Amino acid sequence: MSTQNSEFTAVVHDAAEIVTIEEEGSLGIYEDAAIAVVDGEVARIGATGPVTREYPPEDAQFAVDATGKAVIPGFIDPHTHALFAGDRSDEFEAKLQGKTYQEILAEGGGILRTVRAVREASDEELLSNLFSHLDTMLAHGTTTVEIKSGYGLDTETELQMLDVIARADDQHAVDVIPTFMGAHAVPEGRDADDYVDEVVREQIPAVAEQGIAQFCDVFCEEGVFSVEQSRRVLEAGEKHGMTPKVHAEELAHIGGTQLAAELGATSADHLLYATREDIDAVVESGVVPVLLPGTAFGLGAEFADARAFLDAGAPIAIATDFNPNCYSQSMGFAASLSCVEMGMTPKESLVAGTKHAGMALDMADGAGTLQPGTPGDIAVLDAPSYVHVPYNFGVNAVETVLKNGQVVHR
Ligand code: NIG
Ligand code: FE
Repeated sequence: MSTQNSEFTAVVHDAAEIVTIEEEGSLGIYEDAAIAVVDGEVARIGATGPVTREYPPEDAQFAVDATGKAVIPGFIDPHTHALFAGDRSDEFEAKLQGKTYQEILAEGGGILRTVRAVREASDEELLSNLFSHLDTMLAHGTTTVEIKSGYGLDTETELQMLDVIARADDQHAVDVIPTFMGAHAVPEGRDADDYVDEVVREQIPAVAEQGIAQFCDVFCEEGVFSVEQSRRVLEAGEKHGMTPKVHAEELAHIGGTQLAAELGATSADHLLYATREDIDAVVESGVVPVLLPGTAFGLGAEFADARAFLDAGAPIAIATDFNPNCYSQSMGFAASLSCVEMGMTPKESLVAGTKHAGMALDMADGAGTLQPGTPGDIAVLDAPSYVHVPYNFGVNAVETVLKNGQVVHR
């Protein structure tokens, strides 16, 4: 029954299972099931017979026969640096030979090298790079992604990056959530305090005036920005309407997590070196811990202690951290690492890459859950169970993707 004034866009039917995320992060699993989308939102989930009687496939704009396949919420990737130019594959080789991330950065490589490439790139080149990465993400089931600026490190290029991010959001099927990260590294030849002054006095007001960044993030790290410098940046961002996020304890422990808790940041990210006190602080303050196992994998570092966060009752999110130092757009790969290297269950990894990831981006309640009334952002797997996402490591288990009830990838 396509209703009178509303638009019945899609029905995915005969699925082996449809997985929803319930309250408290448990899963709802419907077998031999169908899901119907009306006006971009999930209208009904249940046994295929009754759902398709109400929402017949022949009346749908998009009917997807999911016989033998599992259906899950589209992934939300809550931490990426997906907009960049240039190539740093040689740094991958250097790291394999024992060079550290900090050594590469100190030599003007790493972030600083990408900054040089981004400053030289045109808007069109940047947009086309981003489009190709968003296509890859979508093909891997990601329907919403957060993207940070931070490869400009001057007002003009930071604004340009945010503008390109906004254009990609307008033009691409994947929803893009923009974060300003002028404090991503200290530009070459600059003093850190002096640069923080520039971020606070010039970049943040200009970004606020341009009006297209929801969050403000900072690389609070040994040898990059101290806790005090990070606090200045995040407080200035907040004053200008941007919600804080923190890169915390990625390479060393310096106190970024406590800062995130103190400021009521939406998330604290990385947390490889988080302590017991840090875990307690994020739980008490309601900061979402975002774990990025691809980064630890690529750096050959210890993984974050996901179990300690889970045992403390923290709503862990996972993300790809896709950037030239962590070259994977795949939430499925992040899920595989979460299970194999961080001791999470496939169920926990699915919740972390959907509902909890939405919480790490202050998205509307129900984002990433497939509950009725939430966006029809859906991934259909070429596999009979959601467990295949982490189980089929190194291979994309996603076949068809719907965004707001429109098939946008198949
Ligand atoms: O999250 N840590 C800082 N930012 C990125 C790395 C960016 C880069 O190396 O280009 C991260 O790991
Ligand atoms: Fe990052």
